[in-house]
Amino acid sequence: MNILILGSGGREHSLAWAVMQNPKCDKLIVAPGNAGIAQIADCADVDINDGGAVVQFAEDNSIEFVIVGPEAPLANGVADRLRDAGLLVFGPSQAAAALEASKAFTKEICDACGAPTARYGHFTDKQAAKDYVRAQGTPIVVKADGLAAGKGVIIAETVAQADEALDDMFGGSFGAAGAEVVIEEFMRGEEASFFVLCDGKDVLPIGTAQDHKRVGEGDTGPNTGGMGAYSPAPVLTDAIAERALNEIIRPTMAEMARRGMPYQGVLYAGLMIENGAPRLVEYNVRFGDPECQVLMMRLGAQAFDLMHAAAERRLDTMRVNWANDHALTVVLAAAGYPGAYKKGSVIRGLDTLPEDSSNMVFHAGTAARDGATVAAGGRVLNVTARGKTLAEAQQRAYAMVDQVDWPEGFCRRDIGWRALD
Ligand code: AMP
Ligand code: GLY
Repeated sequence: MNILILGSGGREHSLAWAVMQNPKCDKLIVAPGNAGIAQIADCADVDINDGGAVVQFAEDNSIEFVIVGPEAPLANGVADRLRDAGLLVFGPSQAAAALEASKAFTKEICDACGAPTARYGHFTDKQAAKDYVRAQGTPIVVKADGLAAGKGVIIAETVAQADEALDDMFGGSFGAAGAEVVIEEFMRGEEASFFVLCDGKDVLPIGTAQDHKRVGEGDTGPNTGGMGAYSPAPVLTDAIAERALNEIIRPTMAEMARRGMPYQGVLYAGLMIENGAPRLVEYNVRFGDPECQVLMMRLGAQAFDLMHAAAERRLDTMRVNWANDHALTVVLAAAGYPGAYKKGSVIRGLDTLPEDSSNMVFHAGTAARDGATVAAGGRVLNVTARGKTLAEAQQRAYAMVDQVDWPEGFCRRDIGWRALD
């Protein structure tokens, strides 16, 4: 089969790595890809948010199956354009992608299907929002409605902080994403990510993970796209996962189908777990990055069969073969990230590292220059390892990190701490 993956991050490198191991893959192209992906697949310069351009490229290259990595093309309707052109696609429609693209939409769906989530109010008027904050008290969570690249959520400890966030959002600092605001009850507990494949009728869990959103050790400092992850997430026990499926995910899928927008693709449920009960924090309509890297490391080649089955609406025939193991990934980022950082510094030592089914360096923001690998983004490498225990996976991942020669980069040294403590 000829396969096209859309995206250019560590997530897409790990997807490409898993797909390439499956004998059903005859040809793999990743658009636009990065320097690491170029070592295992063809890369092509296509504007992945332009549905017409992606359809044209797929037709010109005899593509039979398209896997969409990031949320932006999904929210832009690229999966719909591809399906209209008769292509098989892994990824939800534009309508169903509202589960990530609009927090107000997700809250409305939760209300309609009774899924447990934070109490909330939805506002288009700043004064009404401020009145709600005063009535509810703090801490409270203020969210811009639309996609804001992970920066549209403010946890306000005081009314003054909430007011400041609302002034910002209604003042246009998040662009169109801030014209509507959701204000939520602050949920206590431990967060974990639950990944399920959906085909419009059936749901198949494919793994759990925990991310590290803050830039600093001990979960301090500003939020990032994610500084490291591990799978499985011990806090998401089988019993809690079953509750999340029955109380949150299956009701959501049924409500989406009832509204004529059946959901197909991967659904990433961010859950808050307190006293054994899961509540929904948010949905994403794509794999997490870097959570995908640890899931792919554990699933390997079967990941392709599972995604293909989801696209063909035959998940009911599939089973996941779990290795009884753990995977952990450490993000190497450019100094300064998530603030301003420099591009172009040379990364050495990568060619001496093992690359096998238990050790992989997935590339995120990298580029090739004169035969060298250079940093080309904020999050740059995902050093990923498997082990019989989480401690072993962690030890192996950091052993690889220590062989990377990149003075302009940094990482957190405590990925996995919550589960290992
Ligand atoms: P979101 O973009 O909705 O995932 O929010 C980003 C992060 O903010 C989440 O991963 C949580 O850590 C935190 N967060 C969001 N909503 C809440 C909430 N209602 N209560 C507590 N923490 C939250
Ligand atoms: N790592 C968090 C996310 O992909 O949204």
